[in-house]
Amino acid sequence: MKIKELEFEKFISEDEIKQKVTLLAETIDHDYAAKTPVFLPILNGSFMFSADLLKQVSIPCRVSFVKISSYVGTVSSGQIKTLIGLEESLFNQDIIIVEDIIDTGLTLQKIIEELKSLGTKSVEVISLLRKKPARDKKIPVKYPGFDIGTEFVVGYGLDYDGLGRNLKDIYRTDSEDILNGNPEV
Ligand code: IMP
Repeated sequence: MKIKELEFEKFISEDEIKQKVTLLAETIDHDYAAKTPVFLPILNGSFMFSADLLKQVSIPCRVSFVKISSYVGTVSSGQIKTLIGLEESLFNQDIIIVEDIIDTGLTLQKIIEELKSLGTKSVEVISLLRKKPARDKKIPVKYPGFDIGTEFVVGYGLDYDGLGRNLKDIYRTDSEDILNGNPEV
């Protein structure tokens, strides 16, 4: 399968994803049985995963879609990343961040800090995919779906240069170009 100039091969099938999503939803139902968590899916990548997951979660819960904005701030450290789109108070709430994929986890760490500073009761992370750097750095992902290497993946919400989000399965490429040089990664 080709997207622009890159060749991709099938990696994780729709059926495998469905099974994993069911398992993750059952775990969340169990762990949050006496709670009413707020799911925070991070757009755009997690739109498909969060929709499928939430259809299977049966405990009472709230959902609030957010985005991560990055802009150059006035401080010398350069890029600041922050959550945008939060419309309700998260004070004293049990938060579950919903991610499509965690690679270095750098952004995620900042977002967790930001959410903790809002007086939340607890903050956990569920991510459909977790790459090796996140495991090496012990980024706190309580609910990882699939552990993968460093390959670049598309499909099921994940994109390559904006394309491929609509695919039902997940595809991979080992292209060095994208792993080294694409600013979207
Ligand atoms: P991190 O801050 O390095 O963990 O980057 C996480 C974000 O990078 C994800 O939410 C994706 O938007 C993007 N990303 C990382 N790896 C991939 C990939 O293999 N395919 C598509 N997007 C990716």
